[in-house]
Amino acid sequence: MNDIHISGTGIWTPPDKVSNDELVESFNKYVDLYNSEHANEIKEGSIVALDHSSSEFIVKASGIKNRYVIEKDSLLNPKLMKPKIKARNDDELSFTAEVSVFAAKEALKNAGLNPSDIDAVIVSAANLQRAYPAIAIEVQNELGIEGFAYDMMVGCSASTFGINNAYCDIKSGKSSKVLVISPEITSGHNNFKNRDGHFIFGDICTAVVIEKNSQSKNKFKILDTKLKTSFSNNIRNNYGYMNAIEDKEYTESELLFVQNGRKVFKEVMPFVSSLILEQLNENDLIAEDIEQYWLHQANINMNSYVIKKLLGENFPPERAPIILDEYANTSSAGSIIAFHKHNHLTNGQKGIICSFGAGYSICSILLEKE
Ligand code: COA
Repeated sequence: MNDIHISGTGIWTPPDKVSNDELVESFNKYVDLYNSEHANEIKEGSIVALDHSSSEFIVKASGIKNRYVIEKDSLLNPKLMKPKIKARNDDELSFTAEVSVFAAKEALKNAGLNPSDIDAVIVSAANLQRAYPAIAIEVQNELGIEGFAYDMMVGCSASTFGINNAYCDIKSGKSSKVLVISPEITSGHNNFKNRDGHFIFGDICTAVVIEKNSQSKNKFKILDTKLKTSFSNNIRNNYGYMNAIEDKEYTESELLFVQNGRKVFKEVMPFVSSLILEQLNENDLIAEDIEQYWLHQANINMNSYVIKKLLGENFPPERAPIILDEYANTSSAGSIIAFHKHNHLTNGQKGIICSFGAGYSICSILLEKE
């Protein structure tokens, strides 16, 4: 019987780090500018004055202290409020393909493999840079990989659903060594002018090697994957190729990320803990049998809720690592960063990577260190 392993992971981290204080300072300058430019309308009551943001609120509400972004000067300019990158010609490597190649090379090195060993590439992220040609095929070409490649999108669970696809592709005999890459350049969809969410996201790219009967010294056998989706409008992005033919002029903010954070919190939480408990039950395990949980990283309070349901009030923090403080919410990449950076499993110990978010979409991957 063939075993299927995660045998290597890698990340590409953007060069610019932004603290809450830096972000809040520029946001508050933007608010002051907006309020003074609209002083008359605010006085008449036709529009509402904007409020300042605060670093204390951000840490308390989310656990986020920093984030990495692809470019910070424009983001912190109160007249721009978003990162800016140079547009590339069609004959240049596209931005998300470039960062995917960086992350992929690290994952391959950690797996002890060369690009030529790989026979499939999946690029799976909450947002893709373009519709076609697939970013995955561009990455495949850049790395000189034979075989096939495709893109997929599953919101905050894109990376774990991608790992599940790789697992199924290997199981069905379509491939034997697959790269799953998640370029989560969340700056492209975040609304940095929105007080409720300007602090939420960070940019990153992760890569994971999944292979049949890995010879790597640091490998994790995939014991089970469990997926669940349930439609919700509480996290939404209306940007898409139909915008241009709709009989509506969209504002910039209407084509960016929106969420009802409170509802997400209330609705997704019970969903996640019950899915993990069902999976454990189906595998004749209990929550205590799992040494480490690498959970989706959107909000520290969400992670505490889930882990307390599983392990009770007093659990050692290293059993459910948090990377939110440094990276913020990196969409589907968060649980993979936690797995990549904080993994202390010894042979025979088990762990769970679990993502949850937009869709709603949840995926839990049960692993055993070999
Ligand atoms: N600075 C200061 N105060 C702020 C603020 C900011 N940037 N943003 C909101 N507030 C205030 C609000 O005005 C509100 O004040 P009020 O109580 O006087 O009305 C208060 O803080 C609470 O606002 P709320 O939006 O309800 O905060 P919250 O505690 O629910 O936290 C989130 C907000 C978004 C951090 C939280 O709901 C969350 O993370 N939910 C899950 C989201 C998620 O997982 N999404 C997945 C995306 S991939």
